[in-house]
Amino acid sequence: MRDEGQRHYTSASRKAVLPVVERLNGLLWYPTLYEGFEFSPNVLYTGATPNQNSVQLCKLLMENFGRRFYFVGSDYIYPRESNRVMRELVHSNGGTVVGEMYLKLESKRSEFMPVLRDIADAQPDVIFSTVVGESTTFLYQTYHDFGLNPKCVPIASLTTTEAEIRAMGFDVGEGHYTAASYFQGVQTERNSRFVSRYRERYGDDEPTNMCLEASYFQVNLFARALERTNSLETSLLRNSVMGAEFNAPQGAVSINPLWGHADVWARIGRANRQGQFDIVYQSPTNVKADPYLVSHGFGHDR
Ligand code: ACM
Repeated sequence: MRDEGQRHYTSASRKAVLPVVERLNGLLWYPTLYEGFEFSPNVLYTGATPNQNSVQLCKLLMENFGRRFYFVGSDYIYPRESNRVMRELVHSNGGTVVGEMYLKLESKRSEFMPVLRDIADAQPDVIFSTVVGESTTFLYQTYHDFGLNPKCVPIASLTTTEAEIRAMGFDVGEGHYTAASYFQGVQTERNSRFVSRYRERYGDDEPTNMCLEASYFQVNLFARALERTNSLETSLLRNSVMGAEFNAPQGAVSINPLWGHADVWARIGRANRQGQFDIVYQSPTNVKADPYLVSHGFGHDR
């Protein structure tokens, strides 16, 4: 998530290419978690949507830290829309949003100083971050410089993966939370094989993360669909993949035929000193995609 590719994985990029993909009747496999509230017959969505990450995260944060949330995000569609959803969740469960700030995607480290000052003034219980890309590092480092304590006021995110934690420093990331379908530490046999094969190929220091796992399982789903159809025709491929299941590193996933979104697992991890996430919550099964939040109460884990 941290290299030049970061701009291409965003919802802003997806929204930009969508009209072209639709006009040419192509099929876009989109592996990034996103804000939901989208459907296209030309897109298959394999990252989590808010009912598969934000709902569970909001519940855990409210139960463990408190009701006063501060939102900080990069200034584009995913953070603004994710915060709209998170605000609704916070309000409907008796919480308040005590501050909200947006910074441009390529913000420098110094630009996070005023944000942290504002956070210190607002005294939230939790900082919900939708900062993405390189500047993620600067948010956490500036937080660290301010001497704040993640045991009292953690940063909670949907996009801070093992890759960002490595970039910011394990000591800086320690104690902060991320909600994701996949962490390198997921205890499945499939994942142990996935991680060791990835290391053999890219080196022991290269962690796996949620984006590459979704990319991996969607390529496998694509390959199997292609074997069945023996054709690149969009409607044939799409029909073939509807309801398809795959034993992914995160666990069993399937493509929900109602929405063309994946039913993925909901997990919450707390970063540890080794740059990995200790999993503090895991859904009992994969969670049915509900990109329009038709039913998303705190009790809806399935
Ligand atoms: C995102 O822009 N979908 C993280």
